Amino acid sequence: MLQKENLNTPYFMINEQALINNLEKAKQLKEISGAKLVLALKCFSTWKTFETIKPYLDGTTSSGPYEVKLGYETFGGETHAYSVGYSHADIEAVKPLSDKIIFNSLSQLDAHYDNCKDSASLGLRINPEMSVAGQDLADPARAYSRLGVKQALLDLTILDKVEGFMFHMNCENKDVDAFISVLNHISNTFSQYLNKLKWLSLGGGIFFTYPGYPIEKLGLALKAFADKYDLQVYLEPGEAIITRTTDLVVTVIDIVENDKKTAIVDSATEAHRLDTLIYKEPASIKEASADGEHHYIIGSCSCLAGDQFCETQFKQPLQIGQKLHILDSGGYTMVKLNWFNGLKMPSIYFEKVDGHIEVLNEFNYQDFKSTLGK
Ligand SMILES: Cc1ncc(COP(=O)(O)O)c(C=O)c1O
Repeated sequence: MLQKENLNTPYFMINEQALINNLEKAKQLKEISGAKLVLALKCFSTWKTFETIKPYLDGTTSSGPYEVKLGYETFGGETHAYSVGYSHADIEAVKPLSDKIIFNSLSQLDAHYDNCKDSASLGLRINPEMSVAGQDLADPARAYSRLGVKQALLDLTILDKVEGFMFHMNCENKDVDAFISVLNHISNTFSQYLNKLKWLSLGGGIFFTYPGYPIEKLGLALKAFADKYDLQVYLEPGEAIITRTTDLVVTVIDIVENDKKTAIVDSATEAHRLDTLIYKEPASIKEASADGEHHYIIGSCSCLAGDQFCETQFKQPLQIGQKLHILDSGGYTMVKLNWFNGLKMPSIYFEKVDGHIEVLNEFNYQDFKSTLGK
């Protein structure tokens, strides 16, 4: 049996019990609201954990053709296909696998309507021109957004072609009242369409697994909305399902000093935790302590000057060879791994409820080499 102490870093350790704790909240939300929940594979596609997730959720949603195929093959249930832009070949690939195909624009709907109309329930992404997203980069309602059709471009004839709308306008939204304001805005702006639709997806980004989140209030608001318009509501959670389940475990390789001390670890944000870099959101380290006196930058093992996980402090000086656990490293990480600098790719392990550790993947030099040529 694998022992944590013997595993080589870097690696992701996904904790099944923590995952189940989130999924139990998802189940509660489904029961109160009547909404169906489809896992957003863009956030988390580590399919060897899906046996744990499947009993709780209704299927998957996707952002590109390979995610559709993965959801269909490894998760089952309902398979929703969305893409910012489908080519003809993409549509041919997803058509036989998808229960719902959601288009991003009127021109995409027109281009593929005849080809798809008898294969799946069709939907259109709408841009509600209102959002709750902390950063402009992740704000679907930002100026000049290409994500979804604005209300001014719609008329009721669209209902001859689509049975559903998809809105996605939240990012890590922990505030139920802010979500309800957006829901009211959608209700006020689109009621003439909602009355005739069969289904409506409200996207992802609702942080209903955050400690203390009022799940019941959210559930009742969704139920009232679904009842009012007599439609099936879907949510597309990603981060809410995987949050606080996964550590990225690294080893301190060196400690250097240039006015501040930097502990260099055997991983890099640019390669293994890209959102730390993109969104400038520092990581948290399990071993750190707010009142520790020993300050360090936790620096990446890449050549990019600004590539660091965070700046934090510890009660004891760090030692070369010591392991650190970078918390909450499950969402938008494993789906974005890359081979920059030829760094060792983190292994992926799954710590099951009974304590045993399952190997989901380990990588080697051949994996690096073969992505760049055969
Ligand atoms: C259309 C759509 N649905 C669902 C999600 C999942 O969001 P989250 O992981 O924040 O729940 C996203 C995230 O970008 C998205 O764009």
